[in-house]
Amino acid sequence: MTSSVAVLRDVAALRAAVRGWREKGERVALVPTMGALHAGHASLVTEGLKRADRVVASIFVNPTQFAPTEDFSKYPRTFDADLAKLAAAGASACFAPGVEDMYPKGFCTAVGLEGPAKADLEDRFRPTHFAGVATVVAKLLNQAGADCAIFGEKDYQQLKVVAQMARDLDIATEIVGAPTVREADGLAMSSRNVYLSPDERTKAVAIFGALSTAAGRIAAGEVLGHVMADAREEIVAAGFAIDYIEARHAETLDRVARRADGPIRVLAAAKLGATRLIDNVAVPHD
Ligand code: PAF
Repeated sequence: MTSSVAVLRDVAALRAAVRGWREKGERVALVPTMGALHAGHASLVTEGLKRADRVVASIFVNPTQFAPTEDFSKYPRTFDADLAKLAAAGASACFAPGVEDMYPKGFCTAVGLEGPAKADLEDRFRPTHFAGVATVVAKLLNQAGADCAIFGEKDYQQLKVVAQMARDLDIATEIVGAPTVREADGLAMSSRNVYLSPDERTKAVAIFGALSTAAGRIAAGEVLGHVMADAREEIVAAGFAIDYIEARHAETLDRVARRADGPIRVLAAAKLGATRLIDNVAVPHD
C-alpha cells in the first residue's frame, strides 16, 4: 500500500509544509512538472528521494511557456492519476496552484535570458518558451525553498537554462539533472507521446535511433559533419519533418566542429504529423 499525497493549493500551504519538514531536520526536493505524469516523472521523484527526505512535486500547466499556436488548451490533464503516481513514487506532497495564484491580476515580471536560452535550438522554434519556463521555475524555486530541484535531461536545453538562471539569480536550491527514461523501444517518455497515432508511435523511435547511432559514431572518431548529415537523412526517411538535429557542447550548448571540442551532446527536434518530439543523447567520451 502506498501512502497518500497531500495536495497543497497555494503558496502559504506549500511553505507551511516545507517549514514543518525542516523543523524536523528533513531535507526537501522539488520536482516541477506540468502533470500528465509518466515513469519519467516517477524517476525524478526517485532521484529526489536519493537526495532528500521529502519530495514535493508541483503540477502546473504554465500558460506563459506556450505560444498561442501551441497545445496549452489540449495539453493532457490527468490530475487524479497523477496523484496516484506521485504517491506510488513516494512523494509527500503535490503543489497544485491555480493560474490566479501563479499569475495574479497585475503580474508583470519575467526573467530575461541569454546564453543557453539563445543557443539557436528550441529557442529558434519557440522564441517565447524559455522566458515562460524560467519565470515560472524561478517562482516555484522561491515558493518552495527546497534544497534541490530535479529536472529531466530530456528537455536538455531547459535544464541548462534553469541551471544558469538559478546560478545567476543566486537561488540557493541545487539544480539536478536526471537521465531520460525511455520506452522499451527507446522512445523518450513524454506527456506528448499520447498525441501519436499507432503508426506514428511505431516510427517515433527513429529519432532516438538516429541520435544514438550518431553519438556512437562521433565517439568512434568519425567526421562529425558526415555523421550528422546521415542522422538527418535517417530521421527524414522515417517520416519526420526536422526542426533541428545538431551536435553541441554538452555544457555551453555552443556549436562544435569535432569530437575534441566536446563533451558533446547530440540533440534533435522533429515533427511526426502534428506531434513535435525532442530528444538528445550524450556522446560518450574518455
Ligand atoms: O518540463 C516541464 O514540465 C516544464 O517546463 C516545467 C519545468 C515544469 C516548467 O513549467
